[in-house]
Amino acid sequence: MPKILRTVSETRDFTNLYDLVNRRIGFVPTMGALHEGHLSLGRKARNECDCLIYSIFVNPIQFGPKEDLARYPRDLKGDLEKLESIGTDAVFFPDETIMYPEGYSTYIDVGPVGNVLCGKTRPGHFSGVATVVTKLFNITGCDQAYFGKKDYQQYTILKKVVNELNMPVDIIGVDTVREKDGLAMSSRNSYLSKDERKAAVVLNKTLKFVKDNFIRFKTKSEILTKVTELISSEKLADIEYAELRNASDLSDIRSIKKNKLVLLLAVRFGTTRLIDNMIVN
Ligand code: PAF
Repeated sequence: MPKILRTVSETRDFTNLYDLVNRRIGFVPTMGALHEGHLSLGRKARNECDCLIYSIFVNPIQFGPKEDLARYPRDLKGDLEKLESIGTDAVFFPDETIMYPEGYSTYIDVGPVGNVLCGKTRPGHFSGVATVVTKLFNITGCDQAYFGKKDYQQYTILKKVVNELNMPVDIIGVDTVREKDGLAMSSRNSYLSKDERKAAVVLNKTLKFVKDNFIRFKTKSEILTKVTELISSEKLADIEYAELRNASDLSDIRSIKKNKLVLLLAVRFGTTRLIDNMIVN
């Protein structure tokens, strides 16, 4: 079983052993309820680094007051078995008072990119993510950190944070792992009813349609009209946003001919909100 580290000093003592002999520490931050997507990050880290550490921490400051913090799936025993199967060395599993002791008041402001897409309906979410990830980097002293590109906005923002704050960590993005029918793996898929689960396939189908037919489109609005039509054909789907943006920094685009573009979706199925995205050109 991976070694369980519960405090900052235990974790530092553990990773210092690797640092002292110049070994690379690979880190995968998670909120637990691990699935194949999380494990694919660890497998890549295992290949590229000498030490593999995961963290499991359901970070309260990235959830809004009406979000699913209380019902977020938790399964430590199952998670540890999965992490053992891929050769994880240690898991940082702090409780809330270790991460945010009483009086805690330091937060990272990620700027305007945190207020678009998911940030529009989840104010403060990316500040919460950037804050906890920065703390986790400082605690683990990792050299490389692995993030799924399913959370494309998170991945883009964290690259910017690390660059702008001169943090000595390489952010490695890993492609989305999908179920056989194309649904992107997510801990939140477990909330879906049978019918919602079937309906949710429309996300990947829509993204693939745009990618496969990209050369036929002339404008951004033509693409987004088609996307809305395809998703709305699924009765259980309720679109929160569908946006086409510059894949390198998520800035707005005028022409669809010049830049590498990412199509990003957030869609509700009942009470479950799913996100997905694809580079389409
Ligand atoms: O992607 C997640 O699971 C979380 O946002 C992260 C990066 C572990 C921070 O809490």
